[in-house]
Amino acid sequence: MSPDPSPLGSAAHHVHRVGVVGGGQMGAGIAEVCARAGLDTVVCEADATAARAARERVAVSLERAVQRGKLDRLSAEDALARLLFTGDLDDLADRQLVIEAVVENADVKTEVFTALDKIVEDPEAILASNTSAIPVMRLGMATRRADRVVGLHFFNPVPVLPLVEIVSSLHTTADTAGRAEAFVVGALGKTAIRSQDRSGFVVNALLVPYLLAAVRMAESGYATAADIDAGMVLGCAHPMGPLKLADLIGLDTVAAIAESLYEEFKEPLYAPPPLLQRMVQAGLLGRKTGRGFHMYG
Ligand code: CAA
Repeated sequence: MSPDPSPLGSAAHHVHRVGVVGGGQMGAGIAEVCARAGLDTVVCEADATAARAARERVAVSLERAVQRGKLDRLSAEDALARLLFTGDLDDLADRQLVIEAVVENADVKTEVFTALDKIVEDPEAILASNTSAIPVMRLGMATRRADRVVGLHFFNPVPVLPLVEIVSSLHTTADTAGRAEAFVVGALGKTAIRSQDRSGFVVNALLVPYLLAAVRMAESGYATAADIDAGMVLGCAHPMGPLKLADLIGLDTVAAIAESLYEEFKEPLYAPPPLLQRMVQAGLLGRKTGRGFHMYG
């Protein structure tokens, strides 16, 4: 294979038309930063009702940015006007980059990639996944263009946190990863780090065992949720404690990442603790359902 002449990709391949599959907390955040960066952005949800809810999520976040003085009202209105919300995956046919951000479930994500492979017309288009822990290789192999499939892993809240992990599978070409990085850095103004295609990549491989340790501590009655969180905020200057952070990420997502890590490495420290699984079964998913380790709203 010849070396990639431009590590950040060529200008000829600049991305202007972006698609986002999934308009939940991550998908809506990704769509918001794309639209704020001036990109024509189409967000695809499961149906028209879910698409309306995704639009509302972005509108609320843009309003928050205006209220915090991070964005002027005109720019917020322009960003919303650049977004199209749809319930039809076919509306992504002309996209140059599609970022999948559906639920953290390998079967669901694989189905999305198989469908995108058939729908997205440009053979040079990049198909990216915001997965936290599912192998990019598995998603690439659901398509006939694994060389154009890459992980683009954003962090929650997406409009606030600057990092994106760029994850190449064994099939991802240097050109694809370079163009993905050029998009993240050049178009979105975020900071990229590169990771090999190992479950959890860099950040979740370090973060999730820590979150699970906090759940085990609460589960065993070692300390209260409030004290565990206060310990890390006041004793280590973290912006939020581990249980509040787990609530922010979503306990279903934390459990799904733990399962992927455990499946890959078989290390007990990655196994989801019973309390976490019971809370997911109970629908206590954290901030998005109003109750997790803490109460919201
Ligand atoms: N657009 C732009 N900026 C915004 C914004 C928006 N929609 N909403 C908030 N902000 C800005 C605020 O203006 C503020 O900026 P300044 O500090 O410059 O004033 C900053 O973001 C913080 O906002 P708030 O004042 O609303 O809230 P806070 O100070 O309580 O912080 C928090 C909230 C940003 C969530 C912070 O607690 C934090 O960073 N927590 C850690 C989050 C974290 O670790 N996320 C990673 C999770 S792991 C993950 O996502 C990956 C995975 O796969 C699971």
